Amino acid sequence: MSKDYQFLKPYQFTNGVTLPNRIVMAPVTTQSSFFDGTVSDEEVKFYKMRSGVGMVIVEVANINKDGKGFEGELSVADDRFIPGLRKLANAVHSKGSKAVLQIFDAGRKTSRQILRGDQPRSASAVAPHRNPDEVPRALTEQEVEQVIRDFGAASVRAIKAGFDGVEIHGANTYLLQQFFSPHSNQRTDRWGGDVYQRMNFAKAVIKEVRRVVDANAARPFLVGYRFSPEELSDPGIRIGDTLKLVDMLSDQPVDYLHTSLGDRKRSSLLDPDDQESLNHKILKVIADRKPLIEVGNIQSPADAEAALNDGAALAAMGRELLREPNWIEKVQADDEKTIRYVLSPTDMDLVGLPGGLQTELRTGFLNAMNFSDQQTADFRHQFGQMEGFGG
Ligand SMILES: Cc1cc2nc3c(=O)[nH]c(=O)nc-3n(C[C@H](O)[C@H](O)[C@H](O)COP(=O)(O)O)c2cc1C
Repeated sequence: MSKDYQFLKPYQFTNGVTLPNRIVMAPVTTQSSFFDGTVSDEEVKFYKMRSGVGMVIVEVANINKDGKGFEGELSVADDRFIPGLRKLANAVHSKGSKAVLQIFDAGRKTSRQILRGDQPRSASAVAPHRNPDEVPRALTEQEVEQVIRDFGAASVRAIKAGFDGVEIHGANTYLLQQFFSPHSNQRTDRWGGDVYQRMNFAKAVIKEVRRVVDANAARPFLVGYRFSPEELSDPGIRIGDTLKLVDMLSDQPVDYLHTSLGDRKRSSLLDPDDQESLNHKILKVIADRKPLIEVGNIQSPADAEAALNDGAALAAMGRELLREPNWIEKVQADDEKTIRYVLSPTDMDLVGLPGGLQTELRTGFLNAMNFSDQQTADFRHQFGQMEGFGG
């Protein structure tokens, strides 16, 4: 029976990269890299245990030292990180998954403490609501150009490390989103202005990444783009803005788009009268120009199948693959009844969760993980409100 699932079928991107199945591991920061961003053995083990899905999007890596967002963060900011990143790519490949590295600059979503005394930078000198005392400085025009080149250099390192692609992290309120948001971008140069001018930074990053990929990749290499559909701040990104962004992205040289949502079926948080799901609106605008990855509360095989039936090309899972590293093997082996949907805190070592991630799950994500030792009623609701979490 299980063999009939369409998510078990291979998926071929237009550029030729072929996935063994249509399940994607969503990027999940483990907060377990060394102090400077070097890959740790715990991370290698964590990814090795989860190989077997079609594609693993490895947790976000910073592209420069000023763009670091949190402690224990992976880095692709220097050539010295390539040997460690190669171990990660090999771990992901071990049971046939394709390996994509998510790359970012955190912009203002960091702190002087994380940056060892340096002031965070962003599109404009506007503090984030969540941390009003941490006022960033605006990047100069030359610095903006440098960050764009940093995205390119990081992509070259991902190629050298043996990855099959990079995902440009334009979601979860990091620098790319800060340039798109009317809250954080009040620039009057060519990087700011109306909704279309606020897309210029994203376009320039895509152009540079595509340029270096075409010049350096000896085999087909994916370039993906992740975005968040809404911001709660006022002013902030509204779904109408995002649909314009999606229309633009659909004509860019990227291989896939990826919505970042805590619940893939969610409709607008800002317009409760509009019940159409955000992903449905997004798919209509894409109009088959690009494959879309949907994520958010996909746990069971039926959930994954429903995402594909709704029009997603690929179904991504974050928390469920933390709980159940053998999810795809169990489905393939007709052993669905043993899939873990609840995690005992005593099994976190057993399922290979690195120490930094264990701490994060037991604090920031306590209500969102389906731990067996606590009340989890309402966790879906709480999780759905959090758009900028976890990296
Ligand atoms: C612990 C944790 C870390 C995360 N780290 C990242 C990250 O590095 N990059 C990112 O884009 N999203 C990150 N996310 C969001 C996930 O990719 C995903 O969108 C979210 O967990 C919803 O999917 P799920 O319901 O399958 O967990 C993280 C989520 C969690 C729980």
